[in-house]
Amino acid sequence: MTLRLPVFYGSYRRDRLGIRLADYTVRQMRARGHDSELIDARAVGLPMLDRMYKEHAPGEAPPAMEALAETLRTADGFLFVVGEYNWGVQPGLKNLTDHFLEEWFWRPAGVLSYSAGRLGGARANLAWRGILNEMGMVTAPSAVTVGGIAGALDADGQPQGEGGAALDKSFPRFADEFEWWCRAAAAARKSDPVPY
Ligand SMILES: Cc1cc2nc3c(=O)[nH]c(=O)nc-3n(C[C@H](O)[C@H](O)[C@H](O)COP(=O)(O)O)c2cc1C
Repeated sequence: MTLRLPVFYGSYRRDRLGIRLADYTVRQMRARGHDSELIDARAVGLPMLDRMYKEHAPGEAPPAMEALAETLRTADGFLFVVGEYNWGVQPGLKNLTDHFLEEWFWRPAGVLSYSAGRLGGARANLAWRGILNEMGMVTAPSAVTVGGIAGALDADGQPQGEGGAALDKSFPRFADEFEWWCRAAAAARKSDPVPY
């Protein structure tokens, strides 16, 4: 079953490194037969939150927000590639997600984190789970955490060295599980209309 699985990434830094893991994730999901595209918050360029999508009159949201709303509504699940800033989440990605609410509901989310250090962004990974749950997603239990991001993937998002090998080893199990939840949620939405 081909699933629509957009991959979200949100560093605005000019020297950003997490884009490597985001590119890797898109490539892996496509190789698994899914319809995956990168949603790069910096490229989408939403302003700091003023009006949420739903606070705009129908048809009057800025085009980038409207297009993103459609991407969310038609997705089977969401993958978040998250970095860690001072034990917290990256503001660019948080700003993008906060523009929407109902558009996220009733779909699973998978969280992949990374950092320069050895903990692989584990604290941001945990923080996002609460945030995504609050926004109506269920988070798949498995996580991918990539430490030493600069060494684990090259500039083209190709895994390298020990870190890259660890990523290649952990990714399939993470993806198997995430896809299972996406298929389960898709079947449930079909057989049992969502309660609200
Ligand atoms: C403002 C800032 C805060 C950071 N805080 C943390 C942190 O709390 N934990 C950590 O492991 N790495 C931290 N780092 C290092 C990042 O893991 C590393 O710079 C990473 O590449 C950031 O993601 P990006 O390159 O996609 O922006 C921080 C980096 C920045 C720029």
